[in-house]
Amino acid sequence: MTGNMVFDYLLIGVFAAAAFSGLALFFIDAPYGRHKSGGWGPKINTRLGWVLMESPASLVFLYFFLTGENNTSIVAITLLVMWQLHYFHRAFIYPFQIKVKPGDSVPFMVIFMGGSYCAINGFLNGSFISMYSDHLNNEWLTDPRFGLGILLFAFGYYLNKKSDQILRDLRKGGSTEGYKIPYGLGYKYVSMPNYLGEILTWTGFALAAWSLAGVSFVVFTMANLVPRAIANHKWYLETFDDYPKDRKAIFPKLL
Ligand SMILES: NC(=O)c1ccc[n+]([C@@H]2O[C@H](COP(=O)([O-])OP(=O)(O)OC[C@H]3O[C@@H](n4cnc5c(N)ncnc54)[C@H](OP(=O)(O)O)[C@@H]3O)[C@@H](O)[C@H]2O)c1
Repeated sequence: MTGNMVFDYLLIGVFAAAAFSGLALFFIDAPYGRHKSGGWGPKINTRLGWVLMESPASLVFLYFFLTGENNTSIVAITLLVMWQLHYFHRAFIYPFQIKVKPGDSVPFMVIFMGGSYCAINGFLNGSFISMYSDHLNNEWLTDPRFGLGILLFAFGYYLNKKSDQILRDLRKGGSTEGYKIPYGLGYKYVSMPNYLGEILTWTGFALAAWSLAGVSFVVFTMANLVPRAIANHKWYLETFDDYPKDRKAIFPKLL
C-alpha cells in the first residue's frame, strides 16, 4: 500500500474486479471473436475498437511514468521499455495485423470495459514505478528477481506474438474469416499458447518490478484468459473431429 488513497483503492478494486470477472466468465463468454453473439448493445469497428481499448494502457502508463521522480534509473527505463514493447504493439500495430472481415464490429461495451481497465492498469503500474518504488534503483539491477523477470517476460512475449502470428497465417491469401486447427510451437501442447504467453509476459514483468500493481495485472489477466481458454478449447474439440486430443487448454499437461 502506498498511502495514496486513489492508488490503493484502485489496486484493491482491480483484485475485486478480477475475482468477479473470473467467476462471471466461467458462465458467460465475452462476446467477441468465435463467441460473438447479439444483444450486447451498440457496436464499433473491430480495428478501431482494439486501438481504443488498448491505447490507454500505453499512454496512461507513459504519462504517470514521466510525471514521477524515478524515471531516469536504468531499472525504471527497462520496465518502461518492456511495457511499451508489448502495449505499443498491441494498441497501434496488432489491430492492423489481424484478419477481420470488412465492416466487422465488436460491442462497444467490451471496448469500454477493457479500455477502462487498461487506463487503470497503466496508472497503477506507471505510477508505482516512478512514484512509489524505493527498491527500483541501481542495486536492483543485480537482483535475481529483475534478471529472471526479464527472461520470463522475453519468453512470454515471444510465445504470445509467435502464437498470434501462427493464427494469422491460417487466414493467408486474403481470407478474413473461418477457423482452422493451428499447429506448431506451443500449439503442440495447448489450444491457447498466445494466452499462456500473455500470462508469462506479465508474470515476468511483475517479478522484475516486484510490485503488487504488477501482481494485480497477472491476476486480472488470468481471470480473463483462463476461462476463455477453457471455452475456446471446448469449442475446438466440438468443432473439429480430428482435433488433437492430447492438447490441454492453456497449461501444458495440467489444464
Ligand atoms: N491481458 C488480457 O487480459 C487479454 C485479454 C484478451 C486478449 N488478450 C490478448 O490479445 C490477443 C488476442 O486475443 P483474442 O482473445 O482475440 O485471441 P484469439 O481468440 O486467439 O484470436 C486472435 C486472432 O486470431 C484469429 N483466430 C483465432 N483462432 C483462429 C483459428 N483457429 N483459425 C483462424 N484464425 C483464428 C481471431 O479471429 P476472430 O476474431 O475472427 O475469432 C483473431 O483475429 C492475444 O494475444 C491475447 O493474449 C489479452
